Amino acid sequence: MTTELDSIVGSARDAFAKAATPADLENAKAQFLGKSGRVTELMKGMAQLSVEEKKTRGAAINVAKQAIESALNERRQALADQELEAQLKAEALDVSLPGRLREPGGLHPVSLTMERIEQIFASMGFDVADGPEVESDWHSFTSLNNPPNHPARSMQDTFYVDIKGDDGIPYNLRPHTSPMQVRYAQAHVKKYEGREMPEVRVIAPGRTYRVDSDATHSPMFHQCEGLWLGENVSFKDLKVVFLDFCRTFFETDDLQLRFRPSFFPFTEPSAEIDIQFQSGPLAGKWLEVAGSGQVHPNVVRNMGLDPEKFIGFAFGMGPDRLTMLRYGVNDLRLFFDGDIRFLRQFR
Ligand code: PHE
Repeated sequence: MTTELDSIVGSARDAFAKAATPADLENAKAQFLGKSGRVTELMKGMAQLSVEEKKTRGAAINVAKQAIESALNERRQALADQELEAQLKAEALDVSLPGRLREPGGLHPVSLTMERIEQIFASMGFDVADGPEVESDWHSFTSLNNPPNHPARSMQDTFYVDIKGDDGIPYNLRPHTSPMQVRYAQAHVKKYEGREMPEVRVIAPGRTYRVDSDATHSPMFHQCEGLWLGENVSFKDLKVVFLDFCRTFFETDDLQLRFRPSFFPFTEPSAEIDIQFQSGPLAGKWLEVAGSGQVHPNVVRNMGLDPEKFIGFAFGMGPDRLTMLRYGVNDLRLFFDGDIRFLRQFR
């Protein structure tokens, strides 16, 4: 009798110990204390016993029942403790781990150059303007003394857009920033309506497009136009301004400038501007950095100005090229790959 109860208590303890979760434990409990559990069955079995026997048997069963209940409560507590411990462990913070850094962002190297260019020219009294990248044929070419069917148009491999202008000619992705010469000058003239306009002095940096792609050409690239027109602005001023710009930009006075005769429809005479470093890794090489020239009278006229009164120069330089020279980058495409390992170096 006692041994039977002891063995029930024993197997209850075993079953409780095996229960790995609170749900398992409640199932195990049902096997012993549930409606048809083993202890409950024993109680039912007492019906036929005498009063005397009921007393002793009932007391013994109660003792067993209490033992089972206390084993159950112990196991409940143990499982709850386990769960809490696991949760604490899972949520633990290792304060000795290094932090997850959010890296500071930075400007793209070409943007750094653009800002630099703007600052330097602004300090020399130049206005900074920008304009549309989808241009009319008139602005990109005709206004710049480059009429339809003129052979000089083939100097640039232009992208055309599926939209036609009022003249029936498709719009283009501007192949240079030179249309900004005319756009800016016209707007400037308008602003001075009726008043004496002393000069036009502006740079126009921005994106430009040509059908071209290799290590030193990309279909989208950058240019910065410069224009200075006044009563008596000459090549001499261009040389001073440009040399000053280059020396400030590259932070060296060890730099020479060379004008190499060239041709552009919108300037006459025209020249490529080459620079040469006297020291450093690029020393001794002539490097082409801009096209330039005295603004053609036809262009001055298209600006709404009298070429007898306004004379001066324009230049167009390549900020991508300037960035490559300044930082020693040998492949233009690196600027447009978006590779964080490359870009991070300029932060
Ligand atoms: N627009 C010319 C080019 O893209 C550069 C240039 C600008 C030349 C202004 C002369 C004057 O090559």
